[in-house]
Amino acid sequence: MTQELTVQLAGTKREKPDQANLGFGRIFTDHMFMMDYTEGQGWHDARIVPYQPIALDPSAMVFHYGQTVFEGMKAYLTKEGRVFLFRPEKNMERLNRSNERLCIPQIDGDYAIEGLKKLIDIDREWIPTAEGTSLYVRPFIIATEPFLGVAPAKNYTFMIIMSPVGLYYKEGIAPVKILVENDFVRAVKGGTGEAKTGGNYAASLKGQEIASEKNYSQVLWLDGVERKYIEEVGSMNVFFKIDGEVITPELNGSILHGVTRDSVIQLLKHWNIPVAERRISMDEVAEAYRNGKLEEAFGTGTAAIISPIGEFLWNDEKMVLNGGKTGELSKRIYDTITSIQKGAQKDEFGWITEVPVSK
Ligand SMILES: Cc1ncc(COP(=O)(O)O)c(C=O)c1O
Repeated sequence: MTQELTVQLAGTKREKPDQANLGFGRIFTDHMFMMDYTEGQGWHDARIVPYQPIALDPSAMVFHYGQTVFEGMKAYLTKEGRVFLFRPEKNMERLNRSNERLCIPQIDGDYAIEGLKKLIDIDREWIPTAEGTSLYVRPFIIATEPFLGVAPAKNYTFMIIMSPVGLYYKEGIAPVKILVENDFVRAVKGGTGEAKTGGNYAASLKGQEIASEKNYSQVLWLDGVERKYIEEVGSMNVFFKIDGEVITPELNGSILHGVTRDSVIQLLKHWNIPVAERRISMDEVAEAYRNGKLEEAFGTGTAAIISPIGEFLWNDEKMVLNGGKTGELSKRIYDTITSIQKGAQKDEFGWITEVPVSK
């Protein structure tokens, strides 16, 4: 796909936020990327425009039937002032996997990355500099055709918006408390669990709300059929270190193909730490805990990179790991990945894409 990218710069630039209070996902940069799809014509009118509200027909299909997909990745500023993206091609690959499941037309991932680089370059000064901060990038596609009928839409809009964000947890890497969910399920095999689509997140809200009321920050989802096997945690994949081996649920069709998950597996293999992708039940985890063999557990995701798990509540059994402290392996992985992202450590894996400065 070769099409011209037009750029309309914002007339006035908005004030930059206080870097100490960025939070997550509430502040947006001056510009955004847009591109439309029309059946018979394909993707067209790629453009960078000032960040602004969009007008949609109330009958736009996304509002009624949820035909939408999204992605999440980050841009990092190095000490030398260079801007790095972490494995953006994996996000575009996953976006197309989600598109396939949701009957949304494929996008050209390379073209989208070129558009993203240009967008980041224009809003370069929005990338925060404080320790642990970054620029969160949210590509997404919505069905815009005005039609009340359950069918794949004939029109879509692809957009990229960006938000300067602080550390996901104020303390940086801090253990979280997890409630194992027995009643609600997030996804089932054959459903849309593997796709990054809004409905999966809407389906997760109720369980998450109940967990929060009990003072647990995230939910661990079990499989939708037997409520036995571990799927993932909130918006993270999950890993367990049992008796020296690291185990993570296999990509079984109902969990997300996490980019951080894939990176962690590569790192563990590189370090010669045994790692297995396989089905793992909550019974097995609890048994390991009771036998003193559950050494660590952690979630992986773009937002927090690594979230050590300090506690699980499963039925009435409370399992406290590592005295509620961050485990050694969690810390080592977190330090390595964040150092590569920030350019403080050599990228031996080909994970970094630099955003060039335009002349
Ligand atoms: C449901 C779910 N699982 C796992 C992840 C972690 O994926 P990644 O490492 O690509 O951010 C995310 C976040 O994108 C998610 O929403």
